Amino acid sequence: MTEIKKIGISTSGGDCAGLNAVVSSVVSSAAKYGWEVYGIHNGTDGLTETPLSYELLTEDNFSDSPWPRLAGSYLGSLNKGVKMESQLAVSERFGKGVAALGLDAVVVVGGDGSMNVLKHYCTRAGIKMIGIPKTIDMDVPKTQKTIGFDTAVQQTTAYCDQLLLTARSHHRWFIVQTMGRECGQLALHAGVAIAADAILMPEIKFDIDKLVEHIKQSKRDYGIIMVSEGISIRGHSGKPADMVSRKLTAAGIANRTAFPEHIQRAGDTLASDRILAAGFVDCAFRAIDNKETFVMTTFENNEYKTISLDEFFKSGIPEKDPNIIGAMTSNAYVEPDNPLLRIAADMGIYIGEMKK
Ligand code: F6P
Repeated sequence: MTEIKKIGISTSGGDCAGLNAVVSSVVSSAAKYGWEVYGIHNGTDGLTETPLSYELLTEDNFSDSPWPRLAGSYLGSLNKGVKMESQLAVSERFGKGVAALGLDAVVVVGGDGSMNVLKHYCTRAGIKMIGIPKTIDMDVPKTQKTIGFDTAVQQTTAYCDQLLLTARSHHRWFIVQTMGRECGQLALHAGVAIAADAILMPEIKFDIDKLVEHIKQSKRDYGIIMVSEGISIRGHSGKPADMVSRKLTAAGIANRTAFPEHIQRAGDTLASDRILAAGFVDCAFRAIDNKETFVMTTFENNEYKTISLDEFFKSGIPEKDPNIIGAMTSNAYVEPDNPLLRIAADMGIYIGEMKK
């Protein structure tokens, strides 16, 4: 086994708050371990494009700046897949890039897609890889926390807090469409935080007529209906918020749609995401030092650990969950025993038609 001297760090996939906190922690931990850190620019592009694009990161030029608390990625990121037919060529260029820099290990901060692609590239390049999970979608299995989620919940909550004021003035309902892909975690958490009137998630079947009834029976004539971008209504197409809006308008309910979009990935990084970054990086460095490879850091039951990427991929395969009507779910999505569902329902929030 090679002794570790140089590591690379890459942020991959959609950006979010907390990526720079991870990079900052990597830089300070590397200083303690006596390793050099190379920041790879723009996901894997920095190692696969010509000329290579990277920089040596030191405590002097990175940590002593506002970057550790800012969202976005100082290194730049890449949110596009590589076509199957070009994967071989790209992985070869990746191997050459790794060799040119003389890297011994790469820390990849990404979601499940990035972990998958990077595992393939790093295997071919014969280099160690450690993953750190990040995503505002919270659709990554085997970890109770991911970098960026808490700040995204806060951003969405703050956005809705503002909307509620104009909603009240004009006696209208706002249908807020959150990000999250096929996962309703962001909508659920922000929806509970603002005490929304309804939360529609892809994992839980809902009845639009029951939603209309619920709104009509409200003591207020304004409020927020949180809609996750992954929901669908049979026979309708277009943006989910627009679909719900049309139904409400047809029922005579004054409403507007609102799209917080990429603002959900922005904002000053919350303390909890910075702490998570520090914990994941501490765990990742111990793993590298212990000669572990192809593992991902996780946070479960108040403990930072690593799990093998193979175990991680296996657990992410979606399967039919008998407890949710008509929904596909993996254990990373909103599961029927998620305590927030019961809490939301007890708060009087319409969350769909769960089996009793
Ligand atoms: O996966 C993160 C995410 O923000 C999703 O919630 C969203 O659907 C998607 O990325 C948006 O991607 P883009 O930045 O390419 O618009």
